[in-house]
Amino acid sequence: MEQLIQRIKQEFEDRFGEEYNLIKSPGRVNLIGEHTDYNDGFVLPAAVDKAIYLAINVNGTNTCRFYAIDKEEEFETDISDSIEKSGQGWPNYLLGVVDQLNKSGYDVSGFDCVFGGNVPIGAGMSSSAALEGGVLFGLAKLHGWEVPPVEMAKIAQKAENEFVGVQCGIMDQFASLNGKEGYALKLDCRTLDYEYFPFNRDDLQIVLCDTQVRRELASSEYNVRRKQCEQGIETLQQWDSDIASLRDVELRFLLSHEEDMDPIIFKRCKFVVEENKRVVQACEDLHKGDLKSFGQRMYQSHAGLQLEYEVSCEELNVLVSITRDLEGVFGARMMGGGFGGCTINLVQEEHVESFADQIKEQYHKQLGKEIKIYQTKVSAGTDLVKQSELASK
Ligand code: GLA
Repeated sequence: MEQLIQRIKQEFEDRFGEEYNLIKSPGRVNLIGEHTDYNDGFVLPAAVDKAIYLAINVNGTNTCRFYAIDKEEEFETDISDSIEKSGQGWPNYLLGVVDQLNKSGYDVSGFDCVFGGNVPIGAGMSSSAALEGGVLFGLAKLHGWEVPPVEMAKIAQKAENEFVGVQCGIMDQFASLNGKEGYALKLDCRTLDYEYFPFNRDDLQIVLCDTQVRRELASSEYNVRRKQCEQGIETLQQWDSDIASLRDVELRFLLSHEEDMDPIIFKRCKFVVEENKRVVQACEDLHKGDLKSFGQRMYQSHAGLQLEYEVSCEELNVLVSITRDLEGVFGARMMGGGFGGCTINLVQEEHVESFADQIKEQYHKQLGKEIKIYQTKVSAGTDLVKQSELASK
């Protein structure tokens, strides 16, 4: 990682000058609580040690100049008038933040930014949220703005919703900005109250298996699921007008109206109601140190995502099912929006190596394809890069 940071520093110095802030903005995992954030529910993500690094400084003009080191692409635009979306794609994550800051009453002036990182793109580890949060944090630092943590997450999410045009919930931006080393973060997506749960056992590893499947389908189907949840609420409101979101729905109440509902909408709602409950129970498991029970809930979450919410795919299902016969695995499930990306696996430290070997081998045997494996550590949220990470030049 040191090498990447040095490259970013060098690139910035060559292009824009010696003065800048260096920011680290992490990707995230989600232990449990999928597709619950936009239903006002609970999630249990954590920031991890894969991150986007940014060198950033204001330049005293109205021009923004960006350089994406991994793509070796540059971008430049004037921000004195309204900010236009770029056909280049990636600049929109930075421009969206500028646009949203302006709309929130912060006056952004021109700045330069070089960035790159090791959060795999499209793998469900929120590389886009990491980039948005990093730019936002960097600009706030440079301008001396005191933006409260919850506000930061809201601005970054809005940048993605309104400028990039992806209707995501708040989990990714919140976790990336507000993660804490050694802790998972239980977030109530209705009130945005949050609580840290210790997650730093030496005997445990979070292992991600990346199918390397990247589906276009993901964002359109994501929006379809959001609509289906809204439809479910509308139907259920006929019997209880106090229901504002699926968060308010009791399983018993939902089951009593199965006959009155479209079967697909019913399945979607049932998953969300149960998943919400699972997050709360999983946090109790963590409290008690009961990883066995925690892991079982991960498997239940996967089954719901596969069969009821229908956002999984064959590759993810095969990966999860292989783990059932492997030693030292507490739980596994698909992670993030779905239709590709990674599974998250809780594995006993002493079995991690054999886990990796066996899952690769069996996956290849069953599907003839390769996976990538990432071992992750639960890390701090977006911040200035620590001196210790900058050791040598
Ligand atoms: C994507 C979105 C999140 C969340 C997950 C599903 O990662 O960005 O807001 O909805 O999918 O849990």
